Amino acid sequence: MDLAGAAACILEAFKYYLPAYVANAAPVVVKGKRPIDGGRLFIDGRRLLGDGKTWEGLAGGILAGALVAALLAALLSEPSLVPLGLVASASALLGDMAGSFIKRRLGLERGQPAPLLDQLDFYAAATLGLYLAGARLSLGAVLALAVVTLALHRATNYAAYKLGLKDVPY
Ligand code: CTP
Ligand code: MG
Repeated sequence: MDLAGAAACILEAFKYYLPAYVANAAPVVVKGKRPIDGGRLFIDGRRLLGDGKTWEGLAGGILAGALVAALLAALLSEPSLVPLGLVASASALLGDMAGSFIKRRLGLERGQPAPLLDQLDFYAAATLGLYLAGARLSLGAVLALAVVTLALHRATNYAAYKLGLKDVPY
C-alpha cells in the first residue's frame, strides 16, 4: 500500500472512532458529582473506581458520542455508523472505568498518572467493541490510530488544563 492508501485507510477507521473520542472527552466538561461506585471500597480497602468516574460523566459521554454518531451517519450517508458509534462510545466509557479500577488496585489515587493506561484504556475498549459489532478495521489502522490517540490525548488534556477544565495537564 502506498502512503496515500495508508492515509485513506486510517481516515476510514477514524470515522468509527470519532464518537468514542467525543464520549471519552465529554465527561471532563460535564463535571459530575455522583460517583458510579457510590463511594464504595474494594476488598483492598481502596475505592472501587474513585470520584473521577461519575454517572453524569457516563451519561453525558454516551449522549455526546451518540450525537456525533448520528451526525456522522447523516453526513456520510452510512446508517450503520449510528449503532457502531453507540457501541464505541459505551465501550470507551467502560474501558475508562476499567482503567480507573486498575489504577485504584495499583494504589494510584484519582488523577495520578498511569502512562499508556490513561491514554489508551478507552481506545482499546472501543476497538474491542467495534470489532465485536462488526466494524471493518485493519490491524494497521488500529495501531496507527493508537499512536494518533496518544498525541490527541496529550494535546486535548493540555488544552483542557489551560482552559481550567482539568487540574492537571495529563
Ligand atoms: N469523568 C466523569 N465521569 C466519567 C469519566 C470522567 O465525571 N465516567 C470526569 C471526572 O471529572 C474526571 C475527568 O472527567 O476527573 C477526567 O477523566 P479521567 O482523566 O479519566 O479521570 P481522573 O480524574 O484522571 O481519574 P482516574 O485516576 O480514575 O483516571
Ligand atoms: Mg486521568
